[in-house]
Amino acid sequence: MPCVIEFTGGDRGPWRVTRAEATAGARLEEVAFVSVGLVSESEDPGHLASSGMAWRLRGAISNLRYTTRDEANRLRSLQAALDRPTATHAALIPIKKSQQWWDLAQDERREIFEETSKHTTIGMNYLPAIARRLHHSRDLREPFDFLTWFEFAPEHEADFEALLSNLRATREWTFVEREVDIRLTRD
Ligand code: HEM
Repeated sequence: MPCVIEFTGGDRGPWRVTRAEATAGARLEEVAFVSVGLVSESEDPGHLASSGMAWRLRGAISNLRYTTRDEANRLRSLQAALDRPTATHAALIPIKKSQQWWDLAQDERREIFEETSKHTTIGMNYLPAIARRLHHSRDLREPFDFLTWFEFAPEHEADFEALLSNLRATREWTFVEREVDIRLTRD
């Protein structure tokens, strides 16, 4: 059973929303706070409505799809863990790609993802300042395909903006049909 994480938006939680915008497609309902946690096994169906939550998004921590052995080794040696005390800023960016993307074969997607768009190469320039975790939602029949999560210290906010504008200018992003960018802080 994969590890499924849920992000809930509502009127309470450890992460305070500072800004939220849809950079492609429909927005999400505005909320003041976001929580991150493991999906609970026993769930009361009235839970969402009664808890002050406006939305809940789920994603599984899964295996790698587009990473070579060499890239995986380099990522492992560079990346930082989540939940560093200095990382008081975060971003939750849910993303949905188009049917055209999913109709491609695995080798065609890898070619666009890395050989053309250099996603991992670009991203590695921002490690370890930006800590990240990718969650897969598509197979859970969720509204987004991916929930991407990033944590960083306030002094790395400009780096995070640069990383985003580099990635959004790539061919990979021409397949992104919905993207919501939610920025968060905690004490
Ligand atoms: C996938 C690295 C930043 C969105 C990946 C993968 C790697 C990676 C290695 C492939 C995982 C696999 O093999 O399946 C990085 C690094 C980053 C970074 C090192 C630097 C912090 C970002 C940002 C976004 C993003 C800022 C979006 C806002 C995604 C998405 C996927 C992905 C949506 C899944 C792509 C797919 O399976 O079609 N990333 N990434 N990444 N990343 Fe990043």
